[in-house]
Amino acid sequence: MPARLARSASVARGCEDMPVAEFVVRAARSGDARAMAEVFAAVAQERDGIATEPPVDIGQQAAQFARGADASVVAVAGGRIVGMLHVQVSRFGFGDLAMLVDGGWRGRGVGSALLRAGIEWARDRGLHKLCLEVFAHNTAAIALYRKSGFAEEGRRVRQYRRASGELWDSIVMGLPLASAASDPAAAGRG
Ligand SMILES: CC(C)(COP(=O)(O)OP(=O)(O)OC[C@H]1O[C@@H](n2cnc3c(N)ncnc32)[C@H](O)[C@@H]1OP(=O)(O)O)[C@@H](O)C(=O)NCCC(=O)NCCS
Repeated sequence: MPARLARSASVARGCEDMPVAEFVVRAARSGDARAMAEVFAAVAQERDGIATEPPVDIGQQAAQFARGADASVVAVAGGRIVGMLHVQVSRFGFGDLAMLVDGGWRGRGVGSALLRAGIEWARDRGLHKLCLEVFAHNTAAIALYRKSGFAEEGRRVRQYRRASGELWDSIVMGLPLASAASDPAAAGRG
C-alpha cells in the first residue's frame, strides 16, 4: 500500500466526558505482521465473522501477513493494531478484499476508514473491481459494504463447513471501480 495516511478519529456519541478514541489508518509494514496475526487469531476465536477458526498458528499467519504487507492497511490506536484490511490482487484485474476490526474497537468507524483506504488503494492501482465474500448472517459487515457501494452479486449456499459441522451460506459482493469509458462493453453501447 502507498504510504498515504488516512487519519480518522471516532467521536464519543452522546457522552461528553468520554475520551475521544483516536486511530490512524496507514499502510501495513512487514514489522506489523505479528501484531496483525494476534488480532486475526482473536477474531478467529469468535468463530463468527471470518472463515478461519482456531487454532491459528501465529508464526505461520504472521509470515503470510508479512508477505502481503504491501497490499494491506492497518488501523493503529495507541501503538496497537486494532484493525486490518488486505486486497489480494488477481491477474485478471480485480481484487479480493478481506478485513477485520478488533472486538473492542468495533462500531467506532475503524472498519469504514479501513475500507475507504482499501478502495482508494485499489483505484490507485488501476483495479477495475473489488469483490469479497461475507457470511450471510454478518449483518454489520454487509451494512458496511453496502454503505460503501458494494452490491450483492450472489449467494453461495451451504458453502463453508464450520468446526461445529454447520454449513454456512456466504454472500458474494462487488464494487466496480473502473469508469464506463474504460469498459469496452459499455463504450460500445450508444
Ligand atoms: C465488519 C467489521 C469490519 C465492521 O467494522 P467496524 O469498525 O465495527 O465498522 P464501523 O464502525 O466503521 O461501522 C461501519 C458500518 O457498519 C455497520 N455496522 C457496524 N456495526 C454494526 C452492527 N452491530 N449492526 C449493524 N450494522 C453495523 C453500519 O452500517 C456502520 O455504519 P454507520 O456507523 O454509518 O451506521 C467488524 O464488525 C468486524 O471486524 N467484524 C468481525 C470480522 C468480520 O466480520 N470481518 C468481515 C468479514 S467479511
